[in-house]
Amino acid sequence: MTPAARIAAAADILDRILDGTPAEAALLRWSRASRFAGSGDRAALRDLVFGALRRRDSLAALGGALTGRGLMIGHLRAEGLDPATVFTGQAHAPAPLSDAELSHEAPATLPDDLPDWLRPAWTNALGDDAAQIARAMTERAPVWLRVNPVRATPDQAIDALAEAGIEVARTELLATALRITANERKLAQSRAYKDGLVELQDLSPQIACALLPLNSGDKVLDFCAGGGGKSLALAAREPGAQLMAHDASAARLSDLPARAARAGASIRVVDDPRDKVDLVVADVPCSGSGTWRRGPDAKWRLTADDLQGLVETQARILDRVAGLVAPGGHLAYMTCSVLGAENDDQVAGFLQRHPQFTVVMRRLMTPLDAGDGFFLALMKCV
Ligand SMILES: C[S@@+](CC[C@H](N)C(=O)[O-])C[C@H]1O[C@@H](n2cnc3c(N)ncnc32)[C@H](O)[C@@H]1O
Repeated sequence: MTPAARIAAAADILDRILDGTPAEAALLRWSRASRFAGSGDRAALRDLVFGALRRRDSLAALGGALTGRGLMIGHLRAEGLDPATVFTGQAHAPAPLSDAELSHEAPATLPDDLPDWLRPAWTNALGDDAAQIARAMTERAPVWLRVNPVRATPDQAIDALAEAGIEVARTELLATALRITANERKLAQSRAYKDGLVELQDLSPQIACALLPLNSGDKVLDFCAGGGGKSLALAAREPGAQLMAHDASAARLSDLPARAARAGASIRVVDDPRDKVDLVVADVPCSGSGTWRRGPDAKWRLTADDLQGLVETQARILDRVAGLVAPGGHLAYMTCSVLGAENDDQVAGFLQRHPQFTVVMRRLMTPLDAGDGFFLALMKCV
């Protein structure tokens, strides 16, 4: 596909998304209907669509309309390109610009790309950093790997990745975290990944897992285990711990046995946890407001009712797991959100209902100081 044909296709896909189709579904439908497109085209389309969703309102302001076409005109202007050179109407290029599109003047100050209804809560939670973090959410997120010490040292993992042409950078924040700097698309086929030397995991949850109290022999319950990212990180950190994984959705746990085998980890799936344990991890369902770089569609789809529903679910999960923490044990409450209602307010409500817990550690990470937005409250049961 020519660059102009890609812009035309991205505009069509974005129109579907603006009409309510989830981004992944709209991209999949386009791929299925466009057998002529190669993997390079599909990747480029994805980048165009996700890039436009991250900066939806500012690109619409630059392009003159909140439509797929407006967003793509805005995208070209943001890149310093003249959209008239792409919107030519020739071959598969989009139709030429109208007089209104040609003469459109963008406002002096561009929108911050936050949903209007959410801005007060965002600012309230993030204070002086709110605008900078909103801007960070409009950038593409880096890909982070977690080195699995059961399989390799960081140096060995770096060498194995290099065999596949994958380049990485270390961070002083965590010895076992590596940021991919080149050839991330080669990861899935690399020996380093297939043999479990590295796992995909954002930096912030890696830091959170590294901060948890964990000793050999400890019983640990990952109550909202999903794909098992936190279980695997904890099993890798302390192979002598007894890891148990639970999730309300059995389907979500289906990948865990294969991932654990690849990582050399032993994790027991439990349907109905009842025994008290030393550490409960509650990585609860949340708005994902800290991960909007990766899933920008969610930023615009979230409603106040959704948020309220999530806050209620989180409180129910916390109430359920409170009884599973042994005296002297810990409860690690985690979200990939930066919003107060899901984080500090949620914890405050929990402490009122369960005064046997006290907070011993609290961390709110953001792209300004770590990876995705991520919250950890570690509470001790006295
Ligand atoms: C943020 S995701 C967990 C991600 C996972 N910990 C990881 O690192 O890959 C939240 C998970 O909570 C699960 N969940 C939702 N309601 C739940 C409940 N009432 N009890 C247990 N798990 C629940 C969801 O199925 C989902 O897998």
